[in-house]
Amino acid sequence: MAEEKALLSVLRGEARKIPPLWLMRQAGRYLPEYREVRATAESFLDFCYSPKKAAEVTLQPIRRFHFDAAILFSDILVVPDAMGQLVSFETGAGPRLEPIETPAQAARLGEFKIEHLSPVFETIDLVKAALPSDVAFIGFCGAPFTVASYMIAGQGTPDQGPARLFAYRYPEAFAKLIDQLVEASIDYLARQIDAGVEVVQIFDSWAGVLPAHEFQRWSAEPVRRIIEGVKARHQRTPVIAFVRGADAHLPKLTQTVGADGYGIDTALDPAWAVAQTARNVPLQGNLDPLALVAGADALDREIDSILAAFKGRPHIFNLGHGILQQTPIENVERLVARVRRGA
Ligand code: CP3
Repeated sequence: MAEEKALLSVLRGEARKIPPLWLMRQAGRYLPEYREVRATAESFLDFCYSPKKAAEVTLQPIRRFHFDAAILFSDILVVPDAMGQLVSFETGAGPRLEPIETPAQAARLGEFKIEHLSPVFETIDLVKAALPSDVAFIGFCGAPFTVASYMIAGQGTPDQGPARLFAYRYPEAFAKLIDQLVEASIDYLARQIDAGVEVVQIFDSWAGVLPAHEFQRWSAEPVRRIIEGVKARHQRTPVIAFVRGADAHLPKLTQTVGADGYGIDTALDPAWAVAQTARNVPLQGNLDPLALVAGADALDREIDSILAAFKGRPHIFNLGHGILQQTPIENVERLVARVRRGA
């Protein structure tokens, strides 16, 4: 029988001497081969909906760095796109959506049309056929709060102010939007698993701005419901929850939301995370993306201190947030070699 993939064994609770390694946003503009394919697509969404191109860029970082996992190339904002909200990406400026300023505008959102995302499932099919047998395949979605923060503001914001204001002013309309996103996310992740991904990650990139009770209501609880819904359809597929800025909420999160592993961000002290969570809970993270830009001794020191902090623990080596565009490729090579030293 083929040996179990390293990422999957860690998500079952196994501590490995050499942790499996992948990087959030590993398919991206720091790679010249990515930029080359990207240049052939009219818009970023067209790119996400071109199965051959999306499959190619999903595989590029695997070919170059032999990471232990490939993450599907797509974006969290395909979900609002499939709900009929206008979504576009402006080069250099990030996502632009038609903002939602009132409950009446929120009520005009359409049903989530999963067929709209059929190119994504085709991408999964293509990647699955080409992936080396020891590489795990990760699908993903954005968590409801993070996706809603773009849907309401119509763009990225420093503090998710528009979404938080909307939630205070119109709690019922906000709860309804979150519910719609919970249902859409369950359906979307379950369909990704049907198509062939082996793990799914939920990205709550902006939950960290919420006051404690709002965090429970708008981040932890919707994430818990998504996991429950996915597990009802795919009991055995592991789920990673990456709740950026979870901070002091992390211990409770690991006891309540039901994920198989938890991503921790750059700001969290790994020793604290290890001490405050049950010993068998897999943790993923948390190298500073800027240390990877800096390289040299600073990078080595950060890698070593993360490896030491998670020693003996089920651990997936990753960044604490997405890789930065200015990251030198030789630093990624240095990271891979150092994490796998002694392999
Ligand atoms: O990880 C991977 O390699 C898989 C693909 C992936 C992308 N986005 C591709 C992408 C994943 C998992 C995401 C998740 C995502 N998208 C998040 C959550 C993770 C995080 O970093 O916090 C968020 C908040 C988004 C929304 C989004 N998409 C923003 C804010 C932007 C613009 C910012 C930027 O980096 O330009 C995007 C565009 C985007 N998504 C790019 C890529 C590679 C860059 C656009 C391009 O190549 O033209």
